[in-house]
Amino acid sequence: MQLIDGKATATAIKAEIAEEVKAIMAKGGKQPHLAAVLVGHDGGSETYVKNKVLACEACGFKSTLIRYEDDITEEELLACVDKLNKDDDVDGFIVQLPLPKHIDEQKIIEAIDYRKDVDGFHPINVGRMAIGLPCFISATPLGIITLLKRYGIETSGKKCVILGRSNIVGKPMAQLMMQKQYGDSTVTVCHSRSKTLKEECRAADIIIAAIGSPEFVTADMVKDGAVIVDVGTTRVPDATRKSGFRLTGDVKFDEVAPKCSFITPVPGGVGPMTICSLMKNTLAAGKKEYYK
Ligand code: GUN
Repeated sequence: MQLIDGKATATAIKAEIAEEVKAIMAKGGKQPHLAAVLVGHDGGSETYVKNKVLACEACGFKSTLIRYEDDITEEELLACVDKLNKDDDVDGFIVQLPLPKHIDEQKIIEAIDYRKDVDGFHPINVGRMAIGLPCFISATPLGIITLLKRYGIETSGKKCVILGRSNIVGKPMAQLMMQKQYGDSTVTVCHSRSKTLKEECRAADIIIAAIGSPEFVTADMVKDGAVIVDVGTTRVPDATRKSGFRLTGDVKFDEVAPKCSFITPVPGGVGPMTICSLMKNTLAAGKKEYYK
């Protein structure tokens, strides 16, 4: 069994990005600039956004954090998006999700200029990704594809089972694993209603677990030699930790790991790669790589 080290891979990629930024700026080019909008004080969102700002520093990007209390109106948030769309210094920006209930998330996502949508959530980016055109690909699926590639894991023609059908992970992951230029796999998507979920998993060469159910994937669901990618990051209460919780994946790691050829740990697997992919997208936005 080989552990897939997302943390080390992300650190290496961020160093590569920093080198490229240095070269761009040495030639008089513009420093890439990512803005992040954070509404409210959700613990998970605070951590993610803090880590995104730190990653910008590691890459040599400029970053701007815009904070609002959770009583901000939809109109005010739309006005902020409009301002960022028009700000020529901002190459890309994200609005951290989830948003408070009184704000229509989809409306906010669709208000973002798709050329600055480094999260890859705008329908134009989602649609272009689905038909294999250059675009911003959402960060978690892109991070997973990058990990599989960097570890030389063969995916072409393999049977890949994806657990979960979210817009952010499950659906785009299925699209990418299916496409010839990325996974080139035979893809099955299972979710909470799937009657044959266990059987599908047992037949899989690659399982990508993104259902948000701690330790859902057990050893009896995994065939010998399978590749396991764990996207789960549920905060499970743990009195022995200073934070009061521990991050728990969708895979029962201790019993599943011995059966695998490759497995991602939680934490230190997919998580760091997600932020690193956002940095890749921001660099591409700065270089106007996909859209003028
Ligand atoms: N919330 C959880 N993951 C993400 C992400 O990748 N981007 C944004 N904007 N919000 C999130």
